[in-house]
Amino acid sequence: MRTVALDAATLEKLISAAVAAPSIHNTQPWHYRLDPDTLTLAVRAASERTLPCADPAGRALHVSIGAAVLNLRVAVARHGWRPVVRMLPDPADPALLATVRLADAARSAGPHRKELYEALWRRRSSRFPFTGHPVPEPVRAELAEAAHTEGATLRFPAPDEVARLLALTAKGERRDAADAARRAETRDWVSGPGGGGLGLAAGTLGPQDARGRVPVRDFTGARRTGMLPSRLFEPRPLLAVLSTPHDRRVDWLRAGQALEHVLLLATVHRVRASLLHQALEWPDLRGALGGAERPARHVQMLVRLGYGPPGPAGARLPVQAVLDTARTGSRAPHSYTVPAGQQRG
Ligand SMILES: Cc1cc2nc3c(=O)[nH]c(=O)nc-3n(C[C@H](O)[C@H](O)[C@H](O)COP(=O)(O)O)c2cc1C
Repeated sequence: MRTVALDAATLEKLISAAVAAPSIHNTQPWHYRLDPDTLTLAVRAASERTLPCADPAGRALHVSIGAAVLNLRVAVARHGWRPVVRMLPDPADPALLATVRLADAARSAGPHRKELYEALWRRRSSRFPFTGHPVPEPVRAELAEAAHTEGATLRFPAPDEVARLLALTAKGERRDAADAARRAETRDWVSGPGGGGLGLAAGTLGPQDARGRVPVRDFTGARRTGMLPSRLFEPRPLLAVLSTPHDRRVDWLRAGQALEHVLLLATVHRVRASLLHQALEWPDLRGALGGAERPARHVQMLVRLGYGPPGPAGARLPVQAVLDTARTGSRAPHSYTVPAGQQRG
């Protein structure tokens, strides 16, 4: 056994990195806890920050937590450990979605480690019009490869298919607007229920497309009546479809990691992204997104990509609100004794 220091500042940095991940409606549906004996971070679902109307099965919650796990992996690697991830490690504890053990760094954590780490602090959703300047093929290939390494597929459909996907998204948006319970649930997350670092501040939302081609989510249901003037969006939007071969909880977690890997890499290349999830929240529309693709795959996200202004920084909960300090006591620096073979490299 050797003594390895995991000081409070580093622990706080790791959790801040996880919290910087995207989450549906910025619900940040996660809790973290460090087991100091094994240097293992547990990532749990926060049952108090869910969306029962839009996400009854918790798929989007799992995708969000998967994104946070990817950030944790990147940050853990950047701080000199090798992240060892177990998804859904305890069938008797379904709220425990993942554990990330900080193991020795004998093996490389993959390419772009430093760049991805830097990007995770800069990545933001950009709901603004993009320039229409094409994203070069080698960049698209890199994004697809990133999704592939996480067990997902990212494809870039042709313009006809993009039009079909946008039409399904617009249909989801119309259904959301007509559904009083969903409307109320979504509105609750604009500016956050009670603020305090949760939800979407009005300034992060962006305008509607004056041509109506790009159905950017109208979180408030009120912007058409004048909250933000409409703007012209890019006439030929670039969409990427993220999908998985199966549709189990573990696939949702993989999809979240793939999504965040893609978004961070896009950020490295100064490519902006926003997510179009409305159709995925209606089972029949989600099924239709898959189209005639064979073998059938389960669509987990539509990502709009392009060049344009960065999105404004979204609010985040403070680390203290999501880090369970019952055993970790994050105030003072700690030295934890870990078994040989788990030390920091
Ligand atoms: C599963 C999931 C679904 C999302 N759906 C949408 C969406 O439909 N429209 C949208 O504009 N943003 C969507 N987002 C982005 C979140 O609103 C965003 O990540 C959150 O507000 C935090 O802001 P940031 O991405 O700028 O850090 C989604 C994110 C996740 C993880």
